[in-house]
Amino acid sequence: MSDSLRYSRKHMFLHWIIALLVAVQFFFAENMGAAFDAKLETASGGWTTGAAFHAILGASIGLLMLWRLMIRRTTDIPPPPAHAPDLIRTVSRATHWLFYAILIAMPVAGAIAWFSKLEWMAEVHDVTGKVLIALIVLHIAGAAYHHFIGGDKSVIHRMIPR
Ligand code: HEM
Ligand code: HEM
Repeated sequence: MSDSLRYSRKHMFLHWIIALLVAVQFFFAENMGAAFDAKLETASGGWTTGAAFHAILGASIGLLMLWRLMIRRTTDIPPPPAHAPDLIRTVSRATHWLFYAILIAMPVAGAIAWFSKLEWMAEVHDVTGKVLIALIVLHIAGAAYHHFIGGDKSVIHRMIPR
């Protein structure tokens, strides 16, 4: 497969490292939920190891996404797979941009919720987290569709180094 049909190596690296960090973030997120409840309910509540881990990892994901957005806007990406119907292209583009929006907005909402003890902002953070899970399911289903059903096995290789 020619290089012009793949994302750049830097972009691939960021794609997979961020996917991994997001999985870790979800796996341990409950610790932050518990620390936030303690902070709201008790005078002694505040930073715990779990809360600090969540905040640092979450901020790192946001910064990596900003870097990735800059790369995305200044370098060429491969053209959409040939033969993909318009609807699939639109859904896939929308999914990709929503990923950028959510993964940049979530750390901001989380930080505001934590530092200002704003419950409605925590609600925004929670709901965007659920939307993020739905997007991930849709995204992986899309990749699996191209690979196993649509018959276009090249799609997944756009994001996998040789
Ligand atoms: C992209 C990055 C982030 C993701 C994917 C993420 C994800 C999550 C998830 C899934 C929860 C729910 C935990 C539970 O089960 O109770 C949560 C809670 C929380 N997160 Fe994050 N988080 C991110 C960044 C941050 C950052 C940078 C902060 C800043 C301190 C933060 C602060 C909070 C707070 C205060 C809560 C508890 C309140 C709530 O349930 O919304 N998060 N986060
Ligand atoms: C098994 C898991 C995953 C697979 C197989 C996968 C596969 C892919 C592939 C093949 C592309 C390129 C699509 C195209 O050519 O248009 C892509 C793009 C993308 N993926 Fe994933 N992905 C996975 C997980 C994730 C996760 C967890 C996230 C978010 C946290 C994510 C975010 C993105 C974004 C934002 C793009 C668009 C890149 C851009 O155009 O800038 N992916 N993914």
